[in-house]
Amino acid sequence: MFGCNRKQWAISSIPNLSGRVAIVTGGNTGLGYITVRELARKGARVYMLSRTDTRARAAIEKIKGELGPELKPEIEYINFDLLSLKSAKKAAETFIQRENRLDILVNNAGIMATRYELGPDGIEIQACNGTGHFALTVSLLPLLKETAAMPDSHVRIVNLSSVGYLFTYFGKPDFSSLEDLNRNRSTWVRYGISKLMVSNILLTNELQKRLAESGTTNIYCLSVHPGVVDTELIRGPLQSWPILAPLAKITKLFSVTPEQGALTQLYAATSPEIEEKDLKAALLFPVAQLKAKASLAEDKDGKLGNDFWALCEALMRQKA
Ligand SMILES: NC(=O)c1ccc[n+]([C@@H]2O[C@H](COP(=O)([O-])OP(=O)(O)OC[C@H]3O[C@@H](n4cnc5c(N)ncnc54)[C@H](OP(=O)(O)O)[C@@H]3O)[C@@H](O)[C@H]2O)c1
Repeated sequence: MFGCNRKQWAISSIPNLSGRVAIVTGGNTGLGYITVRELARKGARVYMLSRTDTRARAAIEKIKGELGPELKPEIEYINFDLLSLKSAKKAAETFIQRENRLDILVNNAGIMATRYELGPDGIEIQACNGTGHFALTVSLLPLLKETAAMPDSHVRIVNLSSVGYLFTYFGKPDFSSLEDLNRNRSTWVRYGISKLMVSNILLTNELQKRLAESGTTNIYCLSVHPGVVDTELIRGPLQSWPILAPLAKITKLFSVTPEQGALTQLYAATSPEIEEKDLKAALLFPVAQLKAKASLAEDKDGKLGNDFWALCEALMRQKA
C-alpha cells in the first residue's frame, strides 16, 4: 500500500533517534514498555509517564538491564494519571521545565472494559482514556510546535486507538456535555467511545486540523490499532466478568506478543515513511498498514471532533 513490503518493517527499521526526546504514557508494561525500550535503544531520551511510581521505576530498571550499560539509555519518569486532568497538566508542566524539545508523544496508556465508575474529576474512567490524553497533549502543544520549527525536526503525536472504536455503532457517542459522555452505556460501548474520542481517533483528526489552521504543517498525528496483543489490558474484562478468567488463557492463543504489537506505534512514531507518504491523521492497523476510517471516525462534518474538543476544554477550565 505504501509501495514497500510491510513485512520488511521491523524494530530494526527504527532510525537513529539521537538528540530526540519522547514521551510514552503508560510505559511501564505491555505495549508502552516495548515502545519506551525501543525508542531508548535507538538513542532517544524517553520519558515514561505512569501512574504508579514503584511500577514505573521497576520497569525503567528492567529496560536498562535489557539494553545493557554500554548503550547508556536515557529513561526518565514523571507521574501521570489519566483519570486526573490536573495530573495530566502537571505532568506536562514538569516535562516542559526539564526539556526544551519534544519530538515524539505516544499516548499509549489505557484501560479496557472496566466496570462503570466515575474518576476523581467526575468523568467515567474509560472516557479518561480520551480526556486525560487530551489534557496532556494540549498542554504540550506549544513545545511540540516549537520543536517542529527547529531544523530537521520530525514531530509525531501517536494515539493508541483500537478496532474497538467500532463498538460505538452499538451506542451512539455524544460529547455535548459531561452528562452525555458519562451516560452508563454497556462496558464495551464505553471502551469504544473512549477509543473513538481520542485514541483516540477524533483527537488525531481534530489536532491535525487545528495544527494546519494555526500554520503548523510538519507535525504528524496518527491513530494506531496495535492488533490483539497479550498484555495486562485483560485486567479490565477480568474485573468486569471474573467468571471469564479461564477464557483469558484461550485469548493468549490468538494474541501476538507485545514486541509484535508495538511495531505499528513504533512505525508511526519513527518511520520516515510517515512524512514521505504524508500520512496526516492516518489510522494504522498492524503491521504499519493504512486503514480507512469508519464514517463515525472520519467525522466528515467535524461535529463529533468539535464537540469532543469543546467538552475537554470546558473540563480543563473547571478541573485542571
Ligand atoms: N492489548 C491489546 O490487544 C490492545 C488492542 C487495542 C488497543 N490497545 C491499546 O493499547 C494501549 C496499551 O495497552 P496495553 O495492551 O499495553 O495494556 P496494559 O498492559 O494494561 O498497559 C496499559 C498501561 O496504561 C497504564 N494506565 C492505565 N490506567 C492509567 C491511568 N489512569 N493513568 C496512567 N496510566 C494508566 C497502565 O499503568 P499500570 O501498569 O499502573 O496499570 C499501563 O502502563 C491501550 O491504550 C489500549 O487500549 C491494546
